[in-house]
Amino acid sequence: MSDPIRQRPLVVASNRLPVSLRWEEGALRTERSAGGLVAAVEGVAARSRLGEGGGFGFDWVGWPGAPVAEAQRDEVRSALAASRLHPVFLDAEDEALHYRGIANETLWPLFHYFADKSTFSAAAWQRYVEVNQRFTNAILAIAPEDARVWVHDFHLMLVPRMLREAREDLEISFFLHVPFPASEVYRLLPAREELLTGVLGADLIGFHTIDYARHFLTSCVRILGLEVAHDSVQFEGRRVEVGVHPIGIDVHRFDALLDSEAVATRLAELRTRYAGRRLVLGVERLDYTKGIAHKLRAFERLLERRADLRDQLTLLQVIVPSRLDSDEYAGLKRELEEHVGRINGRFGQPGNTPVEYLHRSLDPVELTALYRFADVGMVTPLRDGMNLVAQEYVLCQEPRERLGDACRGMLVLSEFAGAAHVLPRALLVNPWHVESTADALEAALAMAEEERRERIGAMAERVRGLECTAWAERFLARSAEANARNRRRSSIPLRGAEEQRLRECFARAPRRFLLLDYDGTLRELERTPLDARPDQALRELLRALARDERTQVHVVSGRRRRELERWLGDLGVHLSAEHGFASRPAGSAEWREPEGIDLSWLPAVDEVLARVCDEVPGTTLERKPSALAWHYRLADTEYGPWRARELLSELTTALARLPVEVIHGVRVVEVRAAGVHKGVYVARVVADAGPSDFILGIGDDRTDRDLFRALPEHAFAVHVGRGDEDARFRIESPARVRALLSRLLRPNQDAQPASQSR
Ligand code: UDP
Ligand code: G6P
Repeated sequence: MSDPIRQRPLVVASNRLPVSLRWEEGALRTERSAGGLVAAVEGVAARSRLGEGGGFGFDWVGWPGAPVAEAQRDEVRSALAASRLHPVFLDAEDEALHYRGIANETLWPLFHYFADKSTFSAAAWQRYVEVNQRFTNAILAIAPEDARVWVHDFHLMLVPRMLREAREDLEISFFLHVPFPASEVYRLLPAREELLTGVLGADLIGFHTIDYARHFLTSCVRILGLEVAHDSVQFEGRRVEVGVHPIGIDVHRFDALLDSEAVATRLAELRTRYAGRRLVLGVERLDYTKGIAHKLRAFERLLERRADLRDQLTLLQVIVPSRLDSDEYAGLKRELEEHVGRINGRFGQPGNTPVEYLHRSLDPVELTALYRFADVGMVTPLRDGMNLVAQEYVLCQEPRERLGDACRGMLVLSEFAGAAHVLPRALLVNPWHVESTADALEAALAMAEEERRERIGAMAERVRGLECTAWAERFLARSAEANARNRRRSSIPLRGAEEQRLRECFARAPRRFLLLDYDGTLRELERTPLDARPDQALRELLRALARDERTQVHVVSGRRRRELERWLGDLGVHLSAEHGFASRPAGSAEWREPEGIDLSWLPAVDEVLARVCDEVPGTTLERKPSALAWHYRLADTEYGPWRARELLSELTTALARLPVEVIHGVRVVEVRAAGVHKGVYVARVVADAGPSDFILGIGDDRTDRDLFRALPEHAFAVHVGRGDEDARFRIESPARVRALLSRLLRPNQDAQPASQSR
């Protein structure tokens, strides 16, 4: 009850609301929307209304499914508000370009591997961006501070980032209900970068299967060149978690239906109607991804092979009307009707129609009774994100006392449905292989009851475990964790009042310690390290800071001593080179090295890294007195990181007993002597600093974390870039660092205003 996460308000956003409006004789009517997304999320909402949803009351933002004139919008808005539904109105052009154009004619086919059906137009894309912005605005208008926002599916892939840019307080998650295709297919998309960075605005991105998650991560590496782990992506200073969360059905709803009188009555009717016949059931939205034509072919093939089945078997194919305003779908409907006609013409007899075909949606009682009655559930999509019909069929087949204990049914399931990952005890088929699909149908009909009972039992148990409220609960718990982690890590922009406070501390401190990394901090990174020499202005800035005897300036760099000495040796600043291995106090010409450091491992590691350098084109080996670094910045975006991971595991095992540390930095694997890092130097410098002394540490990369960690509590730790978990503050760029340092020299100049760029 007192769980603070659950009490945070939740806003769900999907293209479609659970109800769709329809114009009928000039009046607006509502009907339940089609599709698995609505079925599952509606289930979560329904349980919460019954008080069983574990704190799942939520607001739902979505399109009401039909154009509504300006004058009627208020009326529709208030009618839906009673159910906490918040409409986003789309006009005819939005519908044509955003929904039909990009969602249904670009993303839907491509994500389901129908690349040749995928079309793209710049005008449609523009509208997709605009409509995503409109959804974002609608969410922002109702989301209270610190709310959780859960965005669903491919229609709204830009919303997470738009929300993130508008509000840092929100916890944002995204779930994709369709497959995420292999990166080789995904990269065909003209807007591939925008869509990826769009969803990466979330704290958590969820998929149905490990394959989809893996494809997404590969696309992040190949297309955006991001660093990924098996379960996360580093993006703009945040760790975006990527999780596998297979969706489930509203188990309680089906349990209640199966217990109802209405279903029992309907079942009795079915028994009479199909007396002496066995029923194969297909239920899907009208969609080319569902493989209905392939299924008809397999059924036809079985009838060709088995004349004895022709008057015993009926295929009841329910096709739920869907997206009929698209030519593709309307054409498919005609094609399927012709196919059904052909089979019936070939194998039918008076009073015997092998394929029965319904083009409408069924009410829940009718559907549940059919699931219970059918001898075979035939779910054979060519691709499907999950497929809830398969789960529903299995659940309804469970033996139940009230409806008779016999186990009649078996599921024939496509291996290309996400459901195959959760229901591996079905008869799995490749729907493109008509002959073997017909074999599986035949095997399902012939299967002994004992085997059916055992398989259905195992599958139904799995379906109960995936139940939609539990799915939502698990997903949102992960999202809360991911968000909490990102919040802990998130840093404060160093500008406005924060910069003012820093400057005041600097001005009144008896002693000041400035601990400054060089590359990426004082000076912009260059492709070739030697090109990053300081210009005159930077040299003058450091000299001026160091001139005040209250101020110690330390340049704490990973560079070799040679360059630091040549570039900065005459400025009166203290130098620390080679990640803390060598140091040279201001005014001295002598470098000091720590004593007793064991470097005996260097030649052996050198040999390993030199070999990897030869093997991976575009990589280099940097040799330092106490460290070796393998740089793969210029290597192939996928092969480089993959080889780095291999190398890390090889080195970590091989060097386990040696006094070294292996570090995976930004496109670099570094092996360095244990106990030699920037932090050791920094700790020595600030060892005797008191609370009234001013300490500022600035750095941009992984090795600067050691610097930050060595700073005392009252120091200012500043990350250059999007922020780092070990630094309280962030600043955008080396140019801003230089500007900040120059303002320290001029106490009366104004701070960087708070509102200026992030
Ligand atoms: N469904 C329905 N009425 C019907 C036929 C199907 O409500 O007449 C529901 C079905 O119970 C299931 C959903 O529609 O929950 C279809 O989801 P699925 O994941 O199988 O496919 P999608 O349509 O999302 O591609
Ligand atoms: C799939 C999609 C859903 C969509 C549903 C129905 O399940 O994942 O997002 O709502 O199909 O399609 P429609 O175009 O009618 O919304």
